[in-house]
Amino acid sequence: MKKSVLTGIVLIALAAWAGYWYGNRHGPRPPAVAARSTADTLAIARQGAGIAADSLPSGAGSGKVITVTAGHSIQDAVLKAQPGDTVQIMPGRYSETVYIDKDGIALVGVIRGGDWPTLDGEGKRNDAVLYSGNGIRVENLKIVNYKGNAIMGQAGNNFVIRHNWIANAGVYGIFPEFAQNGLIEYNTLTGIEDAAIYVGMSDNIEVAHNEVHGNVAGIEAENSRHVIIEHNLAYDNAGGILTFITPGLPIKTAFDVVIRGNFVVANNHKNFGAPGSIVSGVPSGTGIIVMAADDVIIENNLIRDNKNAGIIVSDHKSFANITPDPESDPNPDRVQVLRNLFADNGTDPIKEIKALMLAALTREGPDLVAVGGGSGSCVADRDAIKWLGIGSWSSCSRTDTHDISTYLLDKPAPPRVLSAEDRGKLVYSSVCAGCHAYNVRMIGPPTQILQVLYAGNPQGIADYIAHPVKKRDDFPPMPPQAHLSSDLRLAVAKYMLSLK
Ligand code: HEC
Repeated sequence: MKKSVLTGIVLIALAAWAGYWYGNRHGPRPPAVAARSTADTLAIARQGAGIAADSLPSGAGSGKVITVTAGHSIQDAVLKAQPGDTVQIMPGRYSETVYIDKDGIALVGVIRGGDWPTLDGEGKRNDAVLYSGNGIRVENLKIVNYKGNAIMGQAGNNFVIRHNWIANAGVYGIFPEFAQNGLIEYNTLTGIEDAAIYVGMSDNIEVAHNEVHGNVAGIEAENSRHVIIEHNLAYDNAGGILTFITPGLPIKTAFDVVIRGNFVVANNHKNFGAPGSIVSGVPSGTGIIVMAADDVIIENNLIRDNKNAGIIVSDHKSFANITPDPESDPNPDRVQVLRNLFADNGTDPIKEIKALMLAALTREGPDLVAVGGGSGSCVADRDAIKWLGIGSWSSCSRTDTHDISTYLLDKPAPPRVLSAEDRGKLVYSSVCAGCHAYNVRMIGPPTQILQVLYAGNPQGIADYIAHPVKKRDDFPPMPPQAHLSSDLRLAVAKYMLSLK
């Protein structure tokens, strides 16, 4: 290796460490990149990442700008907005769930002198921003104290989620599901109980330049295809970067995932995932995990100080809390671990890895360990790393990923449309379920009781929730949901009545 290259790597490593120490001492901090005009930053970011995606919602939007100031509702502005419009959110505190049920809307915060527009769930709301529209952009928002998701998308293609600062915002931080063609970049996320950035059942997604720390999982691509995860900093999570096939979901495969140029450092946080969840089975101290996903390339990452292992490649049966799915191949095939920089991983591994070490007569915990089935995988430079269980892996013929500049599309993906039922379900689980549980009293009465009250009368529910009146002395008043369109109120009412 040339000296200049080495110096470069050392400098970058130092920068990562600086970030790591800063984060540990000061807790959540804002994304590093200063906010410029969106068009500029997007252009710069794309040049940097080699992304030529004219297919994503770009700069200033083609339509009008609707400005929201503190004390007013973002949702009201979204209701007024037409496709192509930008909802501009001024600094200040907002306590609401914003639901975007149309295409081509940009939700853009204005950050001034360090003051962010802040969505605060006050520990009681489920989700901050939800969208089911296509061509949605969400940027420059600070999101804190939600219980479910910070930013969740269902079936919204061609999205951009960038430069948001998300802390303690529930189970998932940024969670696009069933999406094609989207960019998640320059976000900072911490304190998330499952995956901070969670790409679920999606295709053609780029996750770049994000900082994730203090979460159970930093970045996860699950049952997703054609995903690039690059130039991110993942430290102090229980697991840094994961790519999984999770069994039992409607999409059964995960393949063509490139994990490159990331800092995956000291992911030794206690796993605080919900007991029994799959993510709670992620062993603390793991840098990167590939579970059952195929054609994953791991290249040019700095992977250090992860106490359990640098990289784990696992099949389904070797992983905790997994019930196999006969329709999913349980084995990770054709995983390629190219050149990476490994240091000081595996200093305190879990007992299963210790057993492998014992069998291999080594005292050194692994940079790379493979457990269970799988075929066609390869590794570069195996003599330079500490490994276990890759005896049958070949030597990689590929040396880099220069030929894969982006998986984003040249043209927008065709818009995806959710059924009324799916939209009802989405609103129910994100808005209503925060207060109504199926058969126990929460903040509101149990859904089971409301089903009896409103049997055969979804319109009655749709009307009530727009303008709730006080009914019960022993409950607080229900907040009005008039910001949901009448269609959506009817859809959620039908869904509520159909729940079992
Ligand atoms: C912030 C908490 C909260 C949220 C969110 C919420 N509810 Fe409620 N809901 C309540 C409370 C509290 C009551 C009881 C109000 C009363 O009896 O005065 C209630 C009552 C109701 C009732 C009973 C009305 C009646 O005639 O007795 C229905 C139906 C209902 N909610 C539906 C919904 C639906 C649908 C949603 C989601 C769109 C929703 N609620 C969201 C708290 C909430």
